[in-house]
Amino acid sequence: MREELQKIAEEARERIADTSSTTEINQVRIELFGKKGTITQLSRRLKEFPPEERPLFGKLVNDLRQELTGVLEEREEAISRREKKIRLQEERIDVELPGRKPRRGRPHPLLMLIDEITGIFLGMGFDVAEGPEIEWDYYNFEALNIPPEHPAREMHDTLYITEKILLRTHTSPVQVRTMEELRPEPVRIIAPGRVYRRDALDATHSPCFYQIEGLAVDEGITFGDLKGILTVFARKIFGKDRVVRFRPSFFPFTEPSAEVDVSCGCQGAGCRVCKNTGWLEILGAGSVDPRVLAMAGYDPEKYSGFAFGMGVERIAMLRYGIPDIRYFYENDYRFLAQF
Ligand code: PHE
Repeated sequence: MREELQKIAEEARERIADTSSTTEINQVRIELFGKKGTITQLSRRLKEFPPEERPLFGKLVNDLRQELTGVLEEREEAISRREKKIRLQEERIDVELPGRKPRRGRPHPLLMLIDEITGIFLGMGFDVAEGPEIEWDYYNFEALNIPPEHPAREMHDTLYITEKILLRTHTSPVQVRTMEELRPEPVRIIAPGRVYRRDALDATHSPCFYQIEGLAVDEGITFGDLKGILTVFARKIFGKDRVVRFRPSFFPFTEPSAEVDVSCGCQGAGCRVCKNTGWLEILGAGSVDPRVLAMAGYDPEKYSGFAFGMGVERIAMLRYGIPDIRYFYENDYRFLAQF
């Protein structure tokens, strides 16, 4: 009997020594001390012995149980110490690793340019005016001498909301709104804002872009005043050495009308930006058409004025040599960070 117990004890110690995880330990615990466990079974054999041998057998089994319980616990502790060490190593974080700096935000290049251009005109005595992006057909077209069915409407691919309401296709309606508000006082305003056209987005078109409108109305204003103001503007934005050129053009709300070019930085040598022409087309302008003045309530016999309108993206592309308008809307930090 002793021999048998010794063999059981030997085997049990080996099983315990072989374990390498908490799961295995629990497995062996069941094998030894569970309902059908080796040691549990042993105690059940007590009644197989004659009464005088039972105390001895009982004691041997109890001693064995105690010993094995001790060995098992020791092994369990060793294993859980090791498992904990591994876990801590795996979960280790390097507290000395330098943090990542968040990138600083900054104004968008288009907004910076709008501020800069607005600032130039504020410096010449203009005020800032604004108008709605959702506009009446009347202000966007009719009051600007573009009646319904006028072919000039085809110059603008208009996004209509209803028959009479649309997304403004230019900032020129702000001219009319301001004149209606200020008449008969003189007007000298700059009006930056978003405009919309039914265009697909490509390298040079966007369905939504920025314009800056200018308008001056007073007694005795001439086309010469327009030339002077725009020359100052062009030189501040593109450089002191630049010259400005006015080409005859047509807009229904100005007469005469002009397309204004500024000389290219390549000084006529020819480059990608001016497409080897030596000139950059920067805006449309002209003297306010007497009919527009009259519709807005100014006496064209007494008052005259000039107006101009420019695309902000276009100015930015020419100034910085940006080949594709889409860069402005993609918010790629590598692009934005250059301004
Ligand atoms: N509104 C015109 C356009 O969008 C530009 C312009 C404004 C021309 C004012 C003349 C005077 O094309």
